[in-house]
Amino acid sequence: MAAGLSSQAYQTIVGLVYRHSHIRVGSDKAMMLSNRLRKRVATLGLASVDEYAEYLKGSQDQEEIEQLVDMVSTNHTHFFREDGHFSFVANTALPGWLPELKKSGAPLRLWSAACSSGEEPYTLALVVAQLMQQHPDQVWSITASDISKRMLAFAARGIYRMNSVDPVPRELLERYFQQGHGEWEGTCRVKAELRKMVKFQRINLFQARYPVTDKQHIIFCRNVLMYFDNPSRATAVERLTDMLVPGGYLIIGNSESLFGVRHSLRSVQQGVYQRA
Ligand SMILES: C[S@@+](CC[C@H](N)C(=O)[O-])C[C@H]1O[C@@H](n2cnc3c(N)ncnc32)[C@H](O)[C@@H]1O
Repeated sequence: MAAGLSSQAYQTIVGLVYRHSHIRVGSDKAMMLSNRLRKRVATLGLASVDEYAEYLKGSQDQEEIEQLVDMVSTNHTHFFREDGHFSFVANTALPGWLPELKKSGAPLRLWSAACSSGEEPYTLALVVAQLMQQHPDQVWSITASDISKRMLAFAARGIYRMNSVDPVPRELLERYFQQGHGEWEGTCRVKAELRKMVKFQRINLFQARYPVTDKQHIIFCRNVLMYFDNPSRATAVERLTDMLVPGGYLIIGNSESLFGVRHSLRSVQQGVYQRA
């Protein structure tokens, strides 16, 4: 076991993380976990990681358990990540939906279900907003959720360092971002008109009931299934499939796969699945 982390404490902690989030912490993460836990232990003024694990074991301290999940989560993301999915949305999915939505007057709904610091739902918002210039009467909205309150708070502000927005095409940057000045020099902020199209809320993919009740046309659930085991992947995929309108799309990460996962979706292209 990594320095300062007894095998018992390690088991307690990975068990708690799994119970709360379904994230599987592999033994290859023991060193990373040990380092992060030691920092947390020092912040809390505890004597050791063992003491921390003992405390968590018998505790109902949801805030601390959420911090723990945050400690082991990977939040890496960026604007236009795996951009083929956004081209698919712009060139295939949305043009496919729009005639029907126009006829019925129904709103278009998209959900970014593990949105991390917000780059994914804002990229979606950029893509949809661009297209909707030709369809100004079409109502649309994006739900963006994550298990991490910390990430959601960051995402909702919509403030990014200038180098984060490198992948955003220049005309979109100029139209939908404002540059920071003074103490905000070197940053830019997603403009309010786009921010208001994205509603952030905390959703654990495994919580008993999703607060989202409307069926969705497209759900992005990318680069999170890889942290789950197959039964958990199957559960998440089944629940998200139920949240899609017939013909709706579930989009997962390009390096993820539904191989070995029972599901009812049709594979469309890399990472893109469609509900019957
Ligand atoms: C690597 S980021 C993916 C960000 C974005 N979807 C992308 O592909 O760039 C993974 C995110 O999944 C979130 N996450 C982990 N377990 C979760 C769960 N059980 N429910 C909801 N979100 C979860 C983490 O907090 C993290 O922000």
